[in-house]
Amino acid sequence: MIDVRAMCAIGQRGQLGLHGRLPWEGNTDPLFVEDVTRFFAETQGHVLIAGPKTIEAVPEFAFKDRTIDIIRSHEDPQAVLARYPGRRIFVGGGIAVWNVYAPFIQQWDITRLPYDGDADRWFDPAWLVGGALRTA
Ligand SMILES: NC(=O)c1ccc[n+]([C@@H]2O[C@H](COP(=O)([O-])OP(=O)(O)OC[C@H]3O[C@@H](n4cnc5c(N)ncnc54)[C@H](OP(=O)(O)O)[C@@H]3O)[C@@H](O)[C@H]2O)c1
Repeated sequence: MIDVRAMCAIGQRGQLGLHGRLPWEGNTDPLFVEDVTRFFAETQGHVLIAGPKTIEAVPEFAFKDRTIDIIRSHEDPQAVLARYPGRRIFVGGGIAVWNVYAPFIQQWDITRLPYDGDADRWFDPAWLVGGALRTA
């Protein structure tokens, strides 16, 4: 079985992104800073696959000690995951990526931060059950 995980931070109501960045970008409160530090520590040495906008925001240093792969909508998810046999793969978003890769994710690591402002990207709880919520 391939080791496929996801790690993300959300605001109080599931806020994920704003204007292509984290909604709380620039907030120097230790809670926010530590969350970003933990993300890069946990993903170090592993594979991070994500959409183009998410990867655009990844700092230069992070490319040195992990494998980073910009994935695109024309690619078959199973073929993407098969590129990294034996590796731990973090699916880093964004929205359309998690919509498609949710069925493959075995572990979600979600931090709910004390942010309650605007967002234009939102967490979808359906991802936690592989993208399918029960309707009855
Ligand atoms: N809070 C967090 O933890 C967190 C984590 C990640 C992202 N974010 C935020 O989310 C925002 C960026 O996410 P985004 O959704 O706007 O853009 P994105 O990261 O570029 O991800 C979406 C894009 O991924 C591509 N893609 C790759 N494989 C796909 C597939 N199988 N099916 C569909 N699309 C696929 C598509 O682009 P193409 O059609 O061009 O290939 C799609 O438009 C930013 O604000 C960022 O800060 C937050």
